[in-house]
Amino acid sequence: MCGIFGYVGQRNDAGSLVIDGLKNLEYRGYDSWGIACKIDETLSIEKDIGKISGIKTSNFSDSCALAIGHTRWATHGGVTTQNAHPHANEDETIAVVHNGILENYQELRAYLEKKGHSFKSETDSEVIPHLIEEYMKETGDFASAARRACKDFEGRFGFLALHTESNTLVAARNGSPLIIGVGEDGYFIASDIPAFLEHTKMVQYLDDGEMVVTDGNNIIFSNLETGEAIEKREIEITWSVEQAQKGEYDHFMLKEIMDQKESVARAVNQNEDQILTLAEAIKNAHGTFLVGCGTAATACMAAEYFFSVIAEKHVNFAPASEFKLYHHFLKPKSLVIVVSQSGETADVLEAMKVAKSKGSKVLAIVNSEGSTIDREADYSLLINAGPERAVASTKALTGQMAVLMLIAYAMNDKLREGQKLLLETSSKINDMLNPRYVNFIEELAEKIQEKSALFIIGKSWNYPMALESAIKIQEVSYVHAQGFAGGELKHGPIALIEEGTPCIALVGNDEVKADIISNAIELKSRGAFIIGVAPENNEVFDVWIKVPDAGNAQALVNIIPVQALAYFLAVKRGKDPDMPRNLAKSVTVK
Ligand code: G6P
Repeated sequence: MCGIFGYVGQRNDAGSLVIDGLKNLEYRGYDSWGIACKIDETLSIEKDIGKISGIKTSNFSDSCALAIGHTRWATHGGVTTQNAHPHANEDETIAVVHNGILENYQELRAYLEKKGHSFKSETDSEVIPHLIEEYMKETGDFASAARRACKDFEGRFGFLALHTESNTLVAARNGSPLIIGVGEDGYFIASDIPAFLEHTKMVQYLDDGEMVVTDGNNIIFSNLETGEAIEKREIEITWSVEQAQKGEYDHFMLKEIMDQKESVARAVNQNEDQILTLAEAIKNAHGTFLVGCGTAATACMAAEYFFSVIAEKHVNFAPASEFKLYHHFLKPKSLVIVVSQSGETADVLEAMKVAKSKGSKVLAIVNSEGSTIDREADYSLLINAGPERAVASTKALTGQMAVLMLIAYAMNDKLREGQKLLLETSSKINDMLNPRYVNFIEELAEKIQEKSALFIIGKSWNYPMALESAIKIQEVSYVHAQGFAGGELKHGPIALIEEGTPCIALVGNDEVKADIISNAIELKSRGAFIIGVAPENNEVFDVWIKVPDAGNAQALVNIIPVQALAYFLAVKRGKDPDMPRNLAKSVTVK
């Protein structure tokens, strides 16, 4: 959730470099920020509440080769400058930025206070520099004191600590991701790759229970518990800098919606043998489960229908946060398919743990290569959507659905048919997302922007897309939105319909078309303003958003205009769609 970024090396612009890197992490969401730079042997700390965007990097000294920074989402302690990271020890020789929650911080703080340490913030994180300082009195050196401190921590953490005297950075991880960027003239350590992507594509991943020490010339990974050194591979990231930038668009969300012109085709470009092997694994599994959070969960729900209709195979969907309760059904021959854009979501990682504890195999469908989920799964497929930076997930969803649909086709020995359908769908999406089409959706948003509630109905795979539509509208425009299965309307939700209430009907040319149109008629007769997303017009629609006929892939095209509608509703209502309130891109806490 919070962003971490630090640098040590031969460059002398570490201050502005870290500020720029933090700006690249803004998409994670935050309410305050801070930076600590070593300048002429002393530590200079600057922090503030609010957004970092206005800060001039030229304010930061160009004689700094060691710096750390943070964007904070308040958890323990309110949104104040004092609570913003970095936190330092008394004499400001150690500064720390931290993600996660130290559950036993009160106990540690009481212990440190008895030893004479005083605290400036209400955060759990502030105990870290003080505890390291305390242990340095015994160990003498920074890295071993940091290791010793980690042994005292209960809870999840990923922290980066700077020590001015030894000119080193130490990072340790237990639950919150940290990645090392290997530069030509130093090392970068960040919670997310976009922080340093413009400087290097060579990365090393820190795993749970590990720590890393670097002075900018050398780097040593070790086991937190035993201190034993660990060899790390360098991996080259395939994402390009351009992919991680907004380009011509005002917001990442719109850029990523438009990226779907190509990203579905990229998702379909999979190793055929691997898809066939995985299709076989699902066929042979004693129980297959689909697990994800948020938007990835709606992809899983849609895939339940794909597997049912295309592969005639029953698979079970569960939100990752609920999956623990399914452990009774897991056996060594079960297969758990986890779906995640970031590959770091805490509840998904927890679901993987549950699966592994029962000996079940895990297949991951992820976007972020090298993420924890990607690395820890037994099999992993990348959706190749490129970096997704807007909090609201868009292109990852269609990529996830494309890969899951491909597997469903492969299970029925129709891999070629699946590839053909999805590639044709991709080209139809490309045609659909033309400027006139996007303008039309923008005008619709203008028309309904003042409405206080919006409802979405769908049937079959358009039902999870109705839920997904509601998520998109809620998270960026803050308009109350709810998705329903069309058939459930009569059992309650229809009571909410008033004259002029906008209702979106997601329709396909399929066996449930007549039913969903009939549901739309029911809504209209109660006064609803019907927005039909459908390949063909219908007299019940007050507005028709035309989508191509995509057969079994209809869910992939129907969701796209609604993503755009959510985006424009946010913009028209004066909200920043890339940084919605209270939300984070990567939810690494349970
Ligand atoms: C957060 C994001 C959502 C995302 C969900 C799951 O809530 O804001 O957009 O769908 O996490 O994330 P994942 O990275 O696992 O797909």
